[in-house]
Amino acid sequence: MKREDIDKILAELQQLECKSQKDVEDARVRFLGKKGSITALFEEFRDVDKDQKREFGRPLNELKQAAQARIDELKESVADEGGQDGPKQDLSMPGDPFELGSRHPVSIVRQEIVDIFRKFGYDVAEGPEVEDDHHVFEALNFPPNHPARDMQDTFFVSAGHPNPLLLRTHTSSVQVRAMESMKVPIRVICPGRVFRNEAISARAHCIFHQVEGLYVDENVTFADLKQAILLFAREMFGPETEIRMRPSYFPFTEPSAEVDVSCNICHGKGCNICKGTGWLEILGCGMVDPNVLEASGIDSKKYSGFAFGMGLERIAMLKWRVNDLRHYFENDMRFLEEFGTAIEI
Ligand code: DAH
Repeated sequence: MKREDIDKILAELQQLECKSQKDVEDARVRFLGKKGSITALFEEFRDVDKDQKREFGRPLNELKQAAQARIDELKESVADEGGQDGPKQDLSMPGDPFELGSRHPVSIVRQEIVDIFRKFGYDVAEGPEVEDDHHVFEALNFPPNHPARDMQDTFFVSAGHPNPLLLRTHTSSVQVRAMESMKVPIRVICPGRVFRNEAISARAHCIFHQVEGLYVDENVTFADLKQAILLFAREMFGPETEIRMRPSYFPFTEPSAEVDVSCNICHGKGCNICKGTGWLEILGCGMVDPNVLEASGIDSKKYSGFAFGMGLERIAMLKWRVNDLRHYFENDMRFLEEFGTAIEI
């Protein structure tokens, strides 16, 4: 036995590098296993002369301890670097918070309106956002070049065509599709996104959402319309709510009306939300013009109907007293988190 044998193994241990737990285990076997180099030295030591035992005994023991310590150290460091056992984890650490999203206020209001009308027996109908002139204007009694078309500034997708494609300016287009494809009696509610070429401000946006309603059957009267709107307003704004109707004009309804609800903030006394009037405008409505029924193949002598349309952002503004339409589209988390209805997962 030579002193150099011990020093050589010590040097090897110092230079030893391992990338995985398997490397560490291989190294342990190489040095300390049954046939390992250190074990072999211990066997040699047995045959060493008595007077030399002192010289080698102690360094040999130290070598074994150093080897064990080095192997332990490597085992730890490989674990830290994500070896076979994965990263070291402190299981007592608090967990990462799991952030829940929340529904957008416009989506909350849409769902509420849909749920109310579902209770009244209405189905939900949908139509395309890129529509043709026929469904947005023509079939709704807007003749070509009629000034009523200027009520809604339109984004055209293809012009110079007898039936150009455009971004729908209102969801009334879906009532045309419903009348074309469904059998009377028809009771539908049509939520959707609409587009108008308007300058963006606190009160106007080029993209917003509407819900359209349509009921066609035999003997539908203005009294039915009034009752439907009153029931809706009381479900939406509270049981004390009153409505009032003001005569208005829409090409697709005759007679037409605009509906106000009593201000649910000041209860009619007058405040800055209702601008001192005690009333808030919420929707347009009327009896479906016979021309509109006929344009979609419904016999206007046999059937009549009513329709209404409302802006979702406007309803949401009244419900939560939001004073600027732009908040709905800016995705500022501080605004969106105000509505706090967590999405169920
Ligand atoms: N389409 C109208 C608009 O966008 C809203 C409307 C008014 C819809 C009266 C109707 C209605 O169905 O009868 O301004």
